[in-house]
Amino acid sequence: MNIRQIDKKDIPAVALLHKQSFDKTHFTAFFSTELLSRYIKVLIDYNPYSYLAEEGDRILGYLIGGNKTGAALDNFSKNNYLKIILTLLLHPGFILEKIQSVLLKINKVKISEVEYKIYIIASLPEAQGKGIGRALMNTFENELRIKGIKEYGLSVREQNNNAISFYENNNFIRINKIHKSLYYKKIL
Ligand SMILES: CC(C)(COP(=O)(O)OP(=O)(O)OC[C@H]1O[C@@H](n2cnc3c(N)ncnc32)[C@H](O)[C@@H]1OP(=O)(O)O)[C@@H](O)C(=O)NCCC(=O)NCCS
Repeated sequence: MNIRQIDKKDIPAVALLHKQSFDKTHFTAFFSTELLSRYIKVLIDYNPYSYLAEEGDRILGYLIGGNKTGAALDNFSKNNYLKIILTLLLHPGFILEKIQSVLLKINKVKISEVEYKIYIIASLPEAQGKGIGRALMNTFENELRIKGIKEYGLSVREQNNNAISFYENNNFIRINKIHKSLYYKKIL
C-alpha cells in the first residue's frame, strides 16, 4: 500500500470512495458525485494535509485534515447553496441538524480549542479493519509533528460506533458533545 498526497486528478475517484464509505446518516452521502467532487476540491484547496491510500491504481482510503476547514465550508456553501438547499429539501431529516449548526456559528459557540482537525477519514467498506485508516492517520500525525503541532481534533456522529471505536483505540480523548456530535482531541 502506498500513501501520497491527493492530487486534483484524484478527485472524482475520491468522491466515489466517499459515496461508498459514508452511510446515509451523513448528509454528504446524498450529494451527487459532481457536488461531492466540488466539496472535496474545496476542502483540499484549503487544507494542505490530504492523503490517499492506494494499491496499484485502486484508491482504498483517504483523509483530509488541516486548519482551514471552516473557511473551506463557507466557500463551498456560498458557491453551491442552491444545490445544498435542494439536497436538504429532498432529505428533510437533515434540516434540523443544519439549523443547529448555523445557530452554533451565529452564537459563536466555542466547541473545541484545537486548531488542526481531521475533517474526513474513510476507507472502502471492503478494505476496513486492515490498517488503512491507521496508516492515513499516522501520515497526517507525522506531518503535524514535523510542523511542531502538538494536538489536533475531530468530530464524529454519536451513532457512528465503528469510527468511535477506531478513535478510542487510537488514543483520542472525548472533550465535548453537542447535539448528536462527539468531539475528540489527541495529544501528539
Ligand atoms: C473509521 C474508519 C475510517 C476506520 O478505518 P479502517 O481502515 O477500518 O481502520 P483500521 O483498519 O486502520 O483500524 C485501526 C484500528 O481501529 C480498530 N477498528 C477499526 N474499525 C473498527 C471497528 N469497526 N470496530 C472496532 N475497532 C475498529 C481496528 O481494530 C484497529 O485497531 P488495532 O490495530 O488495535 O486492531 C472506517 O471504518 C470508515 O471508513 N468508516 C466509514 C466512514 C466514516 O464513518 N468515517 C469517520 C467519519 S467521522
